[in-house]
Amino acid sequence: MGEEITVAKRRAGRSAAEAVEDGMVVGLGTGSTAAHAICRLGERVNAGLDIEGIPTSFQSRELAREAGIPLTSLDAASPDVAIDGADQVADGQLIKGGGAAHAREKVLDTAADRFLVVIDPRKEADALNEAVPVEVLPSARRPVADAITDLGGDPDLRAAERKDGPVVTDNGNLVLDCAFGEIDDPAALAASLAAVPGAVAHGLFVDSPDEIHLGTADGVEVRSV
Ligand code: 5RP
Repeated sequence: MGEEITVAKRRAGRSAAEAVEDGMVVGLGTGSTAAHAICRLGERVNAGLDIEGIPTSFQSRELAREAGIPLTSLDAASPDVAIDGADQVADGQLIKGGGAAHAREKVLDTAADRFLVVIDPRKEADALNEAVPVEVLPSARRPVADAITDLGGDPDLRAAERKDGPVVTDNGNLVLDCAFGEIDDPAALAASLAAVPGAVAHGLFVDSPDEIHLGTADGVEVRSV
């Protein structure tokens, strides 16, 4: 990753972290951009900010712990705000799940009163056209793949790096990366994917963000959606 992109991610993450106020419960997203938000929140906690975080993954839990952010859970609290990254953004619609954390991310990001998306310029597109990650029960892999093919997709089991075999999510499931080409109607595809038995969660986040924090080489652009 180039230095410019790293700077853009840091700017986006830190910008969203500044929107968090005393007393809030914060959904902590997963990925390299959300990680900058978590680090900045940790700095603010160490300077006296009183918040609790709810992590969306093993990664965000570990980062939050290291940063000194007190943690809670959805059993005990509702998030006021969630800060999370995205793999592609077009017209306020998102594809997420590059880190295979989209099932818990969707729960947190949807439960939050406000959802702030943090991205660098590479994530912006005119239309969604990246593969959509679908988390599947291991026992349902074949029927889910067949259903996705029937919907016009091309499912590909995500392989692990530095481990033989597939990626196994924090929930013990598998991920099918499903190429659909350009997605003309994200809401319709989202509804079809959500209806497939054995598909635990898909990475289309439709009409979900409230604000997009786009970090660039020059600064940050904050857009209401
Ligand atoms: C994890 C995600 C991430 O938010 C998404 O992959 C973006 O990651 P990064 O900020 O590292 O580019 O959806 O499941």
